Amino acid sequence: MAAPIRRIGVLTSGGDAPGLNAVLRAVVRSAEIQNGWAVLGIEDGFEGLIGRPRVRPLDLSAVSGLLLRGGTILGSSNKGHFATMEVDGELVRDPAPYKELAANTKRLGIDALIVIGGEGSQGIASELAHYGVRAVGVPKTIDNDLWGCDRTFGFDTALTVATEALDRLHTTAASHGRVMVLEVMGRDAGWIALHSGLGGGADAILIPEIPFSIDAVASAIMTREYRGSTFSIVVVAEGAMERGTGQVYQDSTGTLGGVGAHVAAQLGKVTGKDARVVVLGHLQRGGVPTPFDRILATRFGAAAVRVLGEGRYGEVVVSRGARITTVSMTETAGKTRTVPKNHEMVLTSRALGIAFGDEEEMDLTPQPLE
Ligand code: F6P
Repeated sequence: MAAPIRRIGVLTSGGDAPGLNAVLRAVVRSAEIQNGWAVLGIEDGFEGLIGRPRVRPLDLSAVSGLLLRGGTILGSSNKGHFATMEVDGELVRDPAPYKELAANTKRLGIDALIVIGGEGSQGIASELAHYGVRAVGVPKTIDNDLWGCDRTFGFDTALTVATEALDRLHTTAASHGRVMVLEVMGRDAGWIALHSGLGGGADAILIPEIPFSIDAVASAIMTREYRGSTFSIVVVAEGAMERGTGQVYQDSTGTLGGVGAHVAAQLGKVTGKDARVVVLGHLQRGGVPTPFDRILATRFGAAAVRVLGEGRYGEVVVSRGARITTVSMTETAGKTRTVPKNHEMVLTSRALGIAFGDEEEMDLTPQPLE
């Protein structure tokens, strides 16, 4: 039988998301109040357990007031020492940092870890099992694209910021008869663009799952013009791409960005209209989480402690409809939940006349809903 838990470690890994601190608060409160466990906060993601450990005890007073605080009090890092490397066309992991992390975990008396992170971090956590480190995952991404999970915390906040931006762009676009392009986050999945586009009344929604043509978007804008609307609003996910090309990067570091400017410039040329771009960027990730995200984050944190208390490991807490349940870490690692082309919200948008930029290519045979 596995040794009983007395102390757990918790870390936040990858890009931040509004609600991370609310998860930490829920983990600490339920660990201490419900189970009588001590909690150690690990700084800067998995990196805090490399070299001289950077950890701090988290008790009830340390997490007081965190429910509505954006960011993460523990700091976060991207893959760092744990990144996979390509050797002879295969992705491999260097075992050294895993061994070091396992040794530090043991030395600190950490009986199990709660890993709050995206699919890359859950992959690292799942690998740690081979080194004797027990872990449970809490999914984190504002893109809402974790496989097996209907909703991740942070998405609602990002969506709220993006929708408000669209509302504001409407009045200025209408005043000048302009095309306004809003670039939102969404590397592989267009959930933020799709939801905010529908909620914010966009005229075109461009997402990574549906490559677009400028001509199709321009044609939608000119159709509106013909019907008497002199302005148009386009929302584009940063991972969206023009048909026949790839994603647009800011530089060689792999940071996405720039597709909005490209779309605005091309639409301006083709339609002859004034076009402007707004890049929302990290405003979508910062600040106070919405009540929905605070609640979801709290439920995820408490569920992770419950799962550990039941002696279960290697699982990620997820939301399915109204329920909180788990999926296996190995199952979610490396997978994303993208927008199905026949998703009900895509079909609803199309029914309302919102363009996706693939209109000439569309297969108009009825498809089953997803
Ligand atoms: O993964 C979430 C996300 O918001 C992506 O949509 C985006 O590409 C990425 O984070 C940007 O992260 P960074 O903070 O590294 O620029």
